[in-house]
Amino acid sequence: MKEQTIDNITESVLEQNATCADPRFQEIMEALIRHMHDFAREVHLTPGEWIQGIEFLTKVGHTCTGDRQEFILLSDTLGVSTLINLLHDATRTEEATHTSNLGPFFRENAPPKALGDKIVEGDDSREICLYGRVTDVTGKPIANAKMDIWQACSRGTYDMQEISGGHMDYRAQFRTDENGNYWLRTVEPLGYYIPLDGPVGDMIRAQRREGARPAHIHYLVSADGYRELITAIYLPGQYLESDTVFGAAGDLVVTVNENDPESPIKGLPSIRFDLTLAREGTKSGTGRMGADPSMIAEKVAG
Ligand code: BEZ
Ligand code: FE
Repeated sequence: MKEQTIDNITESVLEQNATCADPRFQEIMEALIRHMHDFAREVHLTPGEWIQGIEFLTKVGHTCTGDRQEFILLSDTLGVSTLINLLHDATRTEEATHTSNLGPFFRENAPPKALGDKIVEGDDSREICLYGRVTDVTGKPIANAKMDIWQACSRGTYDMQEISGGHMDYRAQFRTDENGNYWLRTVEPLGYYIPLDGPVGDMIRAQRREGARPAHIHYLVSADGYRELITAIYLPGQYLESDTVFGAAGDLVVTVNENDPESPIKGLPSIRFDLTLAREGTKSGTGRMGADPSMIAEKVAG
């Protein structure tokens, strides 16, 4: 019988993995096993630390509900979501607007609104106009593109953190007009702390990190024949350089213009953000690093 040693245990596990029916599953499992074994060897993981890790992951799972996805928060705060976004962007055949985090607060089926509508119900903070154009890489307007736009409220929380039961606010769906234009009214977003009352918060505090995100507004844009784009715009100010989830990028930073003559809603400060969609090339599956937490909960419950 083969004796397992510190140096040959990895090979033994890989031998048993070689019978996988699905070659991609085999490839993923093989790399996972190799990296996990190398990690344990590198840090000389003790049994006490191993059980701490198991307890942490158990707590992460128990913190997940239909309104909260702690595993996505963990992936985001470890930079894994941004890394996978960058890998996904690298498979594009055309340069388009960069991807940014979908985050744990995306909701399917946000209320459809007409261009020019306000996406916020009862918030008297400073109103702004958000507008721009959706085009392909040649600058051709994309009409009827579907846009989901969502953000935190002026206290720095999302609707689902404040009210359970599915009531939606600070989010809406729009369609671009025949010239690819969109415009809407909202309130100026603020930077905020990510949810720090769970195990991910414990990790962030142990790492002595800030745990905050710069002010931003999320976009999810789709149109027939184009790659779905998940991105966000970031406002200059606090936390731009220390974004806890590494989503802020230079070309996604916008400014609030106090007097933009091109703004379609007069009398309001405005942000202009134009988006470029890449044509759907090779099928690389979804680009969404995340999902509506209620859908994940439903799927898991079967
Ligand atoms: C967000 O932008 O909504 C977000 C992203 C990652 C973690 C927490 C929040
Ligand atoms: Fe956000």
